[in-house]
Amino acid sequence: ADYKIAVIAGDGIGPEVMEEALRVLKAAEESEGFSLEIEEFPWNSEYWLEHGRMMPEDGLEQLRSFDAILFGAIGDARVPDDITIWELIMPIRKGFHQYVNFRPVKSLPGIQTPLANGDGIDFVIFRENAEGEYSDSGGRLYAGQEGEMAVQNTIMTRAGIERITRAACRYAKENGRKKITSATKSNAVIHANKLWDEHVQRITGEEFGDLEFEQYYVDALAAYFVQRPQSFEVVLASNLFGDILSDLGSGLVGGLGLSPSGNINPEKDYPSMFEPVHGSAPDIAGQGIANPIAQIWSAALMLEHLGEKRAAVRMVTAIEEVLAEGEVRTRDIGGEATTGEMGEAILHAFQSN
Ligand code: NAI
Ligand code: MG
Repeated sequence: ADYKIAVIAGDGIGPEVMEEALRVLKAAEESEGFSLEIEEFPWNSEYWLEHGRMMPEDGLEQLRSFDAILFGAIGDARVPDDITIWELIMPIRKGFHQYVNFRPVKSLPGIQTPLANGDGIDFVIFRENAEGEYSDSGGRLYAGQEGEMAVQNTIMTRAGIERITRAACRYAKENGRKKITSATKSNAVIHANKLWDEHVQRITGEEFGDLEFEQYYVDALAAYFVQRPQSFEVVLASNLFGDILSDLGSGLVGGLGLSPSGNINPEKDYPSMFEPVHGSAPDIAGQGIANPIAQIWSAALMLEHLGEKRAAVRMVTAIEEVLAEGEVRTRDIGGEATTGEMGEAILHAFQSN
């Protein structure tokens, strides 16, 4: 098949790690018999300094016809962080109804983790990405006075809960996972999270009765993540809970340089966007020492979403092989390799598996 891919490399280490991902994608194209038509968009902080916006006015329309978006990272000291994020990433996530934030959490060979028993972790998080606690509903009152206050509303809809639940359950069925774990806090957040519980339970029970279902209060679940992370398969969570659990998950298996994510529109009505969890890392940008694994793995998630499962598996296997070998490692995981050397090693492993 033929896929049109929009690439937004961004700022800082974004373009550095993107270069490595594109090399592996090229190799995938050659050996797997699909073709990628790649177009790069220079929408980053430099662009903002020049044009006063992060992307052109018709930016979303320009991206609309692509099959997927591969994103690097943005963020630059010369531009406020809320501008880079809210004028580029958020419009794409929201405009393209990418209501699933997908994060795999998987133990990798030879990676030091903070857990005494950190092997064999292999679960995925489905974080609701479009509504929930992250809303702009609310406001502030009595500025500067003693009684100053803020109201921040959570918005949960039945339709929003149903679709994220179905997406998680379908993924489970298609990928041989047997159990769904829902994160909630309906003992304290009694309106929004009771609605969450009711519809998550209804959809899992009525439509996916063959999957095992469990639900925990999110505070307890955080502790179980640390105590028995191997017992989870698919974790389903609202926007805020999913955000926190995802970073906890990333910390359990080795950190930012290794963590990929997808912002997915499961219906494929709109392009989905794949990006490493990390930002532009200004502290190491320009030195060629960033770890490209999170970006390469994000490219693998993109191929999987496009239906190129075999290529995706080969890419993740290549990452695992290079880590297991242990010869080539970037600094964040205890070695001295450059971004290019790490990318090269993964490319070679990919070509020979
Ligand atoms: P960050 O993820 O850029 O960096 C945090 C720490 O992790 C730094 O010490 C960095 O060197 C290290 N790190 C990150 N990725 C790495 C990699 N691939 N290899 C080796 N080390 C890596 O987060 P920070 O410092 O909070 O934010 C920096 C900028 O990035 C800010 O402008 C922020 O707004 C932006 N940002 C953008 C995101 C995005 O594009 N989606 C996500 C998070 C932050
Ligand atoms: Mg986060």
